Amino acid sequence: MIKSINRRDWLKSGLLIAGGLVASPALAFKSSSLVNHAGKSLLREYVPEFGLNESRMLARLNANENPYGPSSSVIQIIAESISQGNRYGHGDAATLIDMIAEKEGVSKDCIMLGPGSTDLLEKVAITRFQQGGNIVSADPSYMSVMSTAQAMGGTWKPVPLTADYSHDLDGMNAAIDSATRLVYVCNPNNPTGSITNAESLKKFCLEASAKAPIFVDEAYLEFLEKPETQTMVGLVAEGKDVIVARTFS
Ligand SMILES: Cc1ncc(COP(=O)(O)O)c(C=O)c1O
Repeated sequence: MIKSINRRDWLKSGLLIAGGLVASPALAFKSSSLVNHAGKSLLREYVPEFGLNESRMLARLNANENPYGPSSSVIQIIAESISQGNRYGHGDAATLIDMIAEKEGVSKDCIMLGPGSTDLLEKVAITRFQQGGNIVSADPSYMSVMSTAQAMGGTWKPVPLTADYSHDLDGMNAAIDSATRLVYVCNPNNPTGSITNAESLKKFCLEASAKAPIFVDEAYLEFLEKPETQTMVGLVAEGKDVIVARTFS
């Protein structure tokens, strides 16, 4: 039976609270615990500055989008799954975790899934910077973790890229101090597209992870020759204090 509900009943039912949250999230978050020590809201909708509806634009390279669209096999699988859209995907997530664990040679307890890696980058920063501290990374690099760390009240210690645009690993190692809560390495790096030598990076991770956790963002790993020889995921398997992020996007 469909019950009709008038505006007055709806207001009385308390749904206004939910409506208020949707209509003015900044106000709602201001009064919650989702603010940092300076009262700045941690959660804001990300609205890119470039024109989203520009029809002449075939490729938004500044958004790193693939101009060709998904492959036909991906479109087919997604289309087939629509009819199960009323179900949670926990079973499929468990299967995916098993497959990743087998492929990467790590225990499945070490794997966490997210809707894109932004979610995981931000979760790590939110967890690590509850009490402030600093984050060491290259400059320029992909700013998601650093921005979230700063929103939490942390500070950013930027270390300029070298003349060949690779990470200055010695400089980053020297920048780690007792207040460092995380070191972020993006390889290949965004926005420069440059590569840091895998052997040197592994040596750096082994040494520096004894001082602070190292986050290696491998969003663009698959663009490298023999990516399996360039990844730092082996260090996770060895139990080092290293986090590796990948993304299907
Ligand atoms: C280096 C890097 N890491 C992570 C991400 C996040 O990717 P997504 O949330 O789309 O999976 C991006 C997206 O541009 C990126 O450039």
